[in-house]
Amino acid sequence: MTNKTANTMWGGRFADGPDAIMEAINASIGFDKRMAAQDIEGSRAHAAMLAATGILSDNDAKAIREGLLTVLSEIETGKFQFSAALEDIHMNVEARLKEIVGEAAGRLHTARSRNDQVATDFKLWVRDQMDAVDAALGSLLQGLLQQASAGADWVMPGFTHLQVAQPVTWGHHMMAYVEMFGRDRSRFADARRRMNESPLGAAALAGTSFPIDRDMTAKALGFDRPAANSLDAVADRDFALEFLSCASITAMHLSRLAEELVIWSSAQFRFVALSDRFSTGSSIMPQKKNPDAAELIRAKIGRIMGAMVGLFTVMKGLPLAYSKDMQEDKEQVFDAADNLMLAIAAMDGMVRDMTANRDALAAAASSGFSTATDLADWLVRELGLPFRDAHHVTGTLVAMAEKKGCDLPELTLEEMQGVHGDIAASVFDVLGVENSVASRTSYGGTAPDQVRKQIARWQKELG
Ligand code: ARG
Repeated sequence: MTNKTANTMWGGRFADGPDAIMEAINASIGFDKRMAAQDIEGSRAHAAMLAATGILSDNDAKAIREGLLTVLSEIETGKFQFSAALEDIHMNVEARLKEIVGEAAGRLHTARSRNDQVATDFKLWVRDQMDAVDAALGSLLQGLLQQASAGADWVMPGFTHLQVAQPVTWGHHMMAYVEMFGRDRSRFADARRRMNESPLGAAALAGTSFPIDRDMTAKALGFDRPAANSLDAVADRDFALEFLSCASITAMHLSRLAEELVIWSSAQFRFVALSDRFSTGSSIMPQKKNPDAAELIRAKIGRIMGAMVGLFTVMKGLPLAYSKDMQEDKEQVFDAADNLMLAIAAMDGMVRDMTANRDALAAAASSGFSTATDLADWLVRELGLPFRDAHHVTGTLVAMAEKKGCDLPELTLEEMQGVHGDIAASVFDVLGVENSVASRTSYGGTAPDQVRKQIARWQKELG
């Protein structure tokens, strides 16, 4: 006999319904309704398999599969009434299915548990996100490539310690991020490959005595194979952790580029102008054009990496197999995924819209004694000096220029010869920034020819 107030799904042994606080802490429907489409897809695959293996009649399977589509359309059109008393998306869907198709709905849960069901749904959801992130990163890469090819040979200062180091090209700098976001993409792809095993059919934890066909459901849901251990299948969330790890690394890369855009768009640098579409004004200072999008992208790593640490902390120390702790796996993953997608889209828009200030880049490139290394290399190459001595001579010349208030090319030959008598006029060839970058022809170097080769390689790869 079922008690009226007890849960209709599992209330057989319960005399009382849950306390309101119990319901509040237990229910996940407030957030796991985001997995409705995945839940229904999984249930439809399960029902088809139950029929194919003779566990369920064809009629029941047909009613269930069609009824589930009705439920899906009710959810998609906002007509569905979600109920906290029914805890989660799995039981909400099943209860509504029962209203639509009657008794057959009760047979859907044969040879299955919410434990393998939720693991399956969540994997399908995370996998969808990985595909969305992949597409978004692909678009960002295209935007960066466009910037790189427009300014493959535009000189700018390269920095270490945010101090001018050596001249590089704008294209080279843009392509550095292409490499980073390219690796991010491949990290997501690796994680996707590893996670693509179906938990469905692991049941509560031990598998099932019904003659199910796990290959069939795995295939129907786009998994490469069924997961080989039923305990592992319901108990691990490493796929979500990998997603969050990949997301954190991507967010870190986004944060660094965002920081550069903040610096570069300042009045002190003027390396880039951000478009109006991706800037904001100040309510008090009329002259201001603030890089808010860049700042927010710079900050997103906080919550994304926070989600990763949060889920690690939930999962550590949990005994096998399922524990309700694992219901706490979803919200932060949802939030991280939403914010990562937003950050990539905003960066994509900003990168495509921004204008590099070629003159400001060039002016900055030749300040700060950026060709000092070229001078030292010339002393080694032409005069046969040991590099350490060449470094010392160059340092003396830099100090001399600094005192005189000029850049290295503005020193006279006589002044230079005062420091080292063998210095010849041909030294001036290497002191110009254009020559400096053109000379960095080693593989992966900043010479425009090298940069163009890398751009071409990526253009081919991205199609
Ligand atoms: N809402 C639950 C979750 O997200 C579904 C699994 C419940 N399983 C259970 N044995 N109570 O984890």
